Amino acid sequence: SQEFLIAPSILSADLARLGDDVARVVAAGADVIHFDVMDNHYVPNLTFGPAVCKALRDYGITADIDVHLMVKPVDALIEQFADAGASYISFHPEASEHVDRSIQLIKDKGCKAGLVLNPATPLSVLDYVIYKLDFVLLMSVNPGFGGQAFIPKTLDKLRDLKHLIQEQGLATRIEIDGGVKVDNIRAIAEAGADMFVAGSAIFNQPDYQQVIDAMRSELAQ
Ligand code: DX5
Ligand code: ZN
Repeated sequence: SQEFLIAPSILSADLARLGDDVARVVAAGADVIHFDVMDNHYVPNLTFGPAVCKALRDYGITADIDVHLMVKPVDALIEQFADAGASYISFHPEASEHVDRSIQLIKDKGCKAGLVLNPATPLSVLDYVIYKLDFVLLMSVNPGFGGQAFIPKTLDKLRDLKHLIQEQGLATRIEIDGGVKVDNIRAIAEAGADMFVAGSAIFNQPDYQQVIDAMRSELAQ
């Protein structure tokens, strides 16, 4: 089994002091920075683009940046985010006319490639592309906002996905996004996830390290 990665979502960070807040959460033990890109078209909210990713790199952030694209179309932004310093890039299959081509584009740009499945999106979209993916991101809320409640049915989907990955002998990571907290992270890990996005659970607390440590101790049990 793979090491667990904790990926704070900067959607809930202090956006007026973003560089400092990201540096703080990395110092507190974050493994990866989760970067939610929303376009007010694919999802009903608007966040930040490649210039902000580049600005974090220029500020000295060296941690892996995990770009979650909630945009339509995706290809132009894949290129721009790869050039802006992204490490991981994922997109929703509904947002690309040519899913295999968009996955290939991420890989050709030297980033880790992932596909994001909404709560109602079946695992069958993975059938002919999973062998190309470094990770699959399962949404445990509907995309667009931080601070929503974890949809419990996601645990069944996680188990099914984990089973499918093991059956095919793949090393694909499973990332979970939405409503992850200290009190449910262990059940989520037991169901098969190994990469955990947490926005409000971390950034809405004054002591980031305390939350991340508490998550790790849940994962160690
Ligand atoms: C929702 C985003 C999530 C969000 C998670 O569309 O993809 O990454 O920031 O926030 P929490 O952890 O607060 O549910
Ligand atoms: Zn996200």
